[in-house]
Parts: sequence; structure tokens; C-alpha cells
Amino acid sequence: MAMGQRMGAGMILSIESSCDDSSISITDIATKKLIYHKKISQELEHSKYGGVVPELASRLHAIALPAILEECKPWFGELKAVAVTNEPGLAVTLIEGVTMAKALSIALNIPILPINHLKGHIYSLFIGKEAQFPLTVLLVSGGHTQVIEVESHEVMNTVATTMDDSYGESFDKVAKMMGLGYPGGPLIEKLAHSGDASRFVFTVPLWQSPLIAFSYSGLKNQVRLSIESSDEEEYPHIASAFQKTATDHLIQKLKKYFKTRKPESFAIVGGASANLYLRTQIETLLAGYKAPLLLAPLEFCADNAAMIGRCAVEEFIRSNFIRHQEMVVNPRCKL
Ligand code: KG4
Ligand code: ZN
Repeated sequence: MAMGQRMGAGMILSIESSCDDSSISITDIATKKLIYHKKISQELEHSKYGGVVPELASRLHAIALPAILEECKPWFGELKAVAVTNEPGLAVTLIEGVTMAKALSIALNIPILPINHLKGHIYSLFIGKEAQFPLTVLLVSGGHTQVIEVESHEVMNTVATTMDDSYGESFDKVAKMMGLGYPGGPLIEKLAHSGDASRFVFTVPLWQSPLIAFSYSGLKNQVRLSIESSDEEEYPHIASAFQKTATDHLIQKLKKYFKTRKPESFAIVGGASANLYLRTQIETLLAGYKAPLLLAPLEFCADNAAMIGRCAVEEFIRSNFIRHQEMVVNPRCKL
């Protein structure tokens, strides 16, 4: 379709800046199709620090977001609303997207749709299509590890969450301890390929606890002790054993949860849902329940504005608009 050409009931421009990805999308409201999407990641800039530096991320958003917005100008006449991630995330980076959304709302005289980032991840499954609920979702990202029972767009219940670090974050921290860079997930997964998981034994977190909850800080410390007492040649084995234990923990708690409620349909979302070892283990688990596994396309697993735009369509349909004067950021908000 030519830029700016009319299609359906108008479009929504969506902004994502909750962490270290600056991203803007344009979504067609009637068809739910993605019309435009661009993301500028800051991974290289943060890599040397082994994690995201919020202040640096904020300054980089202030450069990247306006540059992407320039490309969206041809669609300005079609816009019916501007959507923006306003919760949860880093306060200083959320504010960059929210400020841009406020400015657009005033300049174009269109309402704002505030979007919950976690809800956005769930809608990464349905870009360009209808949503299918009910659904049990495992959200694994840098900021979250949770099991969510999604009944409908309005009813989403978190039934398990992490007590400390998240699944993705534990990969980031192990990679940092090995001096590999950031983000750690893909780096550890790659290193684990050439390792033998049986060469190191780590205790599965909370394996004796009746709690259906997650914890990664103890595992991180076990891994740290192994790294400190090993040569670099052993890092692939440590990475492999770590990835296995971190994933076994998820599987063990999911099995426990499925005893109380069988999954009808199951999805993994979030940046760490790209992990192939995790995907395979979940597939094996689900085979016993004959539950289908839904996954987002790889390009939409990590943070992006396409998923925010898809969620925004649902908010638009429900007229969940907000005036720019009422727009706030909620860095610690949950679902
Ligand atoms: O969803 P996301 O882009 O950002 C947050 O909302 O946090 O997730 C980023 C997280 C990082 O911690 C990154 O290391 C992790 O996802 N990740 C992975 C993999 N790819 C990304 N973790 C494990 N294995 C991967 N292949
Ligand atoms: Zn995310």
C-alpha cells in the first residue's frame, strides 16, 4: 500500500519506550494490520555496561523517537489516536514516549490510549489477526516472569510471579559475570549450544517449596560461585547447565500449576520466549495436555511498538481514551 493511502476506519500511531528499544508503529484499526513499524535498539550502547543504564537509555530515546516519527508523517492525516506504553518500565524512559504522545495528541487533536506493556506482550501473538482467549500465558522478559490466565481483554489474572530476578534478567546477569555483554539471553543460549549441561549441577530454585512462584537470585549466586572457580573453557558447560536449571524451574512450577488448572491453550511471550531450549521444553510439557502452543513471530518477541499497536486497537474499540492532562507514567504497575 502506498504511504498515506486510506484503508479502513483510520489508524493508530503507537510508541514504545519502556526500556532500551525506541519503537513506533502504525496499525490499521479495522483490519488490525501493521502498516508501519520501526525499532531502534540500544543494545550496543548498553553492552559495555552489562545492562541497561536508564539515564543513557532516556537520552537515546530522545534522539531515536523523533527520527522515527519523521517517517510517520505521511500517515498523520489518518490517525484517530496515539497509543503509548505508560506502565510498567523505567520511569525515565517511559516519560520519553509519553511526552511525545502528549505532544502528538495536542498537535493533531487526537486522544491518547495508555497501554500496559505486559498486555502489549500478550497481543504480540495477535498482530494482524483476531485474539483468541481464554489463554494461559507464560511471560518471560527482562523485567517479568509470570503466568497469566487471560480470560478476555479485561480479565487477565497473574497466578504466579517471580520473588526476585526474572528469567531473562538471570541470563543477563550470568552473561555479565562471564563478561559476554548485553543482552545476555541470546549470548548465553549460543554459548550453551557448545556446552555439556551435565558437567555442572545447580539446584532447581524452590523445588521443594509448595509455592507456585519463581526465584532466580539463588541460582545466579550458584552460577557465580562456579564461574569464580572455573576457567573460561568451562563457561559453555556452565551456560548450558544454567540454561537447563533456569528452564527446569519454569517447567516444574508449570507442572504444579497445571495440576490445579489444565491449560486449554498456552502461549509464551516476552523477549526470552525466543529461547529455543525453553520452547522445546514447553512443547514437550504441553504434549501431555494436548494444548496448542502459541508463539509470536521472532521479530515481535522482544519489545516493539507493533504489539503496543495491536493492544491499542482493543483499547480504541472500548473507547479507553485519556486526555493528555491526565496522562501519567506508572513504572511499577502490574497487569
Ligand atoms: O521483552 P523484552 O525485550 O524486554 C522486557 O520487557 O524486559 O525482554 C528482554 C529480555 C532480556 O533479559 C534478554 O536477555 C532476554 O529477554 N532474552 C532471552 C533471549 N533473547 C532475549 N533470554 C533467554 N534466551 C534468549 N534467547
Ligand atoms: Zn517487554
